[in-house]
Amino acid sequence: MTNSLGFARHGDKENSPFFEQYLTRLLEERDRVGVTDMIYEIDAIMITVDPGHSIGYIAELALMTPYHYLVTLESESHWTHVLRIDLDSPDLLVREVKDPNIRGIFRSLNEVYPIGRHKPNSRYMGEILRVSDLHGVTACQKEREFRFFNQDDVRRLEMPGNLAITKPSPYTHNIVCYMERPRHELRVYALGVSRVREDVQAAYEAAKDKQKQLGIEGLILPIDHLATRVYSQNREVAILEWLSLSSYYYWGSYDIKDQNSSTNVTKSVHYPQEINSPAKVFTANNTPYFVNHLEKLPSPTETFVRNYGPRLHHIAVAVADGESAGQENIEYVVEQIKAQGHNFLLDVIGSKEEGLKQIFSSASEHSSLIIEYVQRFGDFDGFFARDNVARLTHAAGVEEELKELETQSTDRPVPR
Ligand SMILES: [Fe+2]
Repeated sequence: MTNSLGFARHGDKENSPFFEQYLTRLLEERDRVGVTDMIYEIDAIMITVDPGHSIGYIAELALMTPYHYLVTLESESHWTHVLRIDLDSPDLLVREVKDPNIRGIFRSLNEVYPIGRHKPNSRYMGEILRVSDLHGVTACQKEREFRFFNQDDVRRLEMPGNLAITKPSPYTHNIVCYMERPRHELRVYALGVSRVREDVQAAYEAAKDKQKQLGIEGLILPIDHLATRVYSQNREVAILEWLSLSSYYYWGSYDIKDQNSSTNVTKSVHYPQEINSPAKVFTANNTPYFVNHLEKLPSPTETFVRNYGPRLHHIAVAVADGESAGQENIEYVVEQIKAQGHNFLLDVIGSKEEGLKQIFSSASEHSSLIIEYVQRFGDFDGFFARDNVARLTHAAGVEEELKELETQSTDRPVPR
């Protein structure tokens, strides 16, 4: 039996007695009833984009990440493109809504937020977790009061019929899906009609050729972590809820005092390497927005959540340790991608001495998601330089302030 409480704790952020008590109770019970050993890696992540955006997004991902275009699943009102590296790392499902007038629960989650509503269908939806016993896991989770879409809902949502899908979390707005698959069998998504679309294939191949030509193809590795931003008061419950839904453990939290924020890390109990199952990170302000005027504190994380809603903020992709053309790989990769017209929010930060270097890209015009590149040196296995996190958070906040101003200057009342 896996012991989810047997991992070393990192970080300096103090949690409430509520958190510590329920962390122990929830993980002990999860291990005891066998849920920990029925749920495995993140098998896929799902992102929806607005009409007309999936080809551009796939080209962007083919250049900036190791993903390959595999196939498109066509259903009545969506194209679901399957992107894959291999079976040791998660797939990426990019769903494009065909009709801009389509309405639904995921769109509603964007529409109540002032910037989020401008790309009403574009959002990170959540993860698919591989399970060994779909019935066993869902029965247990239902007993623990997690809510699931029923089979009719799943059909209407045009999501793969072989998934069990939770309702969006009240804290992160993400969904968690379970898919039964023995470790060495292929991933199968039971959805629509499957074919390779020539227009998608052409855009993918052009971007991949460019990636090869730039000499960055072998330097960019699979996803390292997925970072979700939540309201300050939801930090602890968002972590505990995710741990209850997955087989992840609590690695620890760092207080980023400079930015009035904390970074909270969870990792898979089954896979020590993030490339097999990315770490899930939660970021939250330390204090709610309405005390800022008293404390005179910055608030980029809470501002993001107020503008976009709780949601995924960035996908971090690892860069191979080493050097290319006399530069550290991360510097080389960023320089090549910049030359293709992609912007970054700051220069590469961090150092070999601190253990890692990091950078944020600008938010994608297709998905609103930022790509982080992270290069770790030697055997460093942490997520910080604390100073890096403060500077990354600050840079993303500055960019977002600009977007907010843009939005205000172009905003029209929403027709009723
Ligand atoms: Fe990150």
